[in-house]
Formats: sequence, structure tokens, C-alpha cells
Amino acid sequence: MKLDHIGIAVKSVDATLDIYRRMMDFQERRTVVESQKAKIALVPIGDISLELLEPTGPDSSLAKFIADRGEGIHHIAFEVEDIEASMREYGAKGFHFTYDKPAPGKFGSLVNFILPRDTGRVLIELTQRSH
Ligand code: CO
Repeated sequence: MKLDHIGIAVKSVDATLDIYRRMMDFQERRTVVESQKAKIALVPIGDISLELLEPTGPDSSLAKFIADRGEGIHHIAFEVEDIEASMREYGAKGFHFTYDKPAPGKFGSLVNFILPRDTGRVLIELTQRSH
């Protein structure tokens, strides 16, 4: 398992990209993930990425997060080889997940989230890349 990305909730992907462009040069990848109601820009930093997450509308859980806590770090994501096996393993150890089954993530990945109440209040994403 390795750190894959850090998710950051933002009001505007474009405005936040402008901040990071003042620090470094990069080529971001963009997408929209309907299941998470998120407009995403991925900023590569070495082997990992910053995942900038803008709500697609007021019904997005990201919009609620920003309203409650402001913009900022939303989750950290670990890459796993087999997300269903990881869900079984962690489930057996008492961790609870947001979804019963892996959900479609960005660029063909499968994702699920361990509830923050089980992790010391950090939302942890498990992500299995498309192969
Ligand atoms: Co993520």
C-alpha cells in the first residue's frame, strides 16, 4: 500500500490551480466524477498527486464539507491492489466504509472511503487503479 493522493476540497479548481502555478510548473489532468459529484483536477507531485475537488452543485457532499469546515484537506488516499480484498480485510478488523461496494472513481479507478470515526477523524480513501 502506498500514498496515492491527497484530496483537497476547493470552491474553484481554476482559482486553486492558479495558486499552485505560482509555486511550480505542472500539467494537470481534469475530469468529473459523477458518483462523488466532484469536478477534479489532479496536480502531479513526484509519485503522488494533489486531487483538487470542486463540488458540481449544492447537493454534493463536498459543498456541505466546505460550508461546514471551509476549503482544505478533505481526505488522504492509499492505493491498493485489490479493493474488494482490502474492504474484506479492513471490515473484518472493524473498519466501516462509506459504500457497501467499491464506487467508480476518476479515470476508471474503483474507490471506497473508511469512515473518519474509525480512523481518528481522517477520511481515508482506498483506490484501486484501472489496469
Ligand atoms: Co481521492
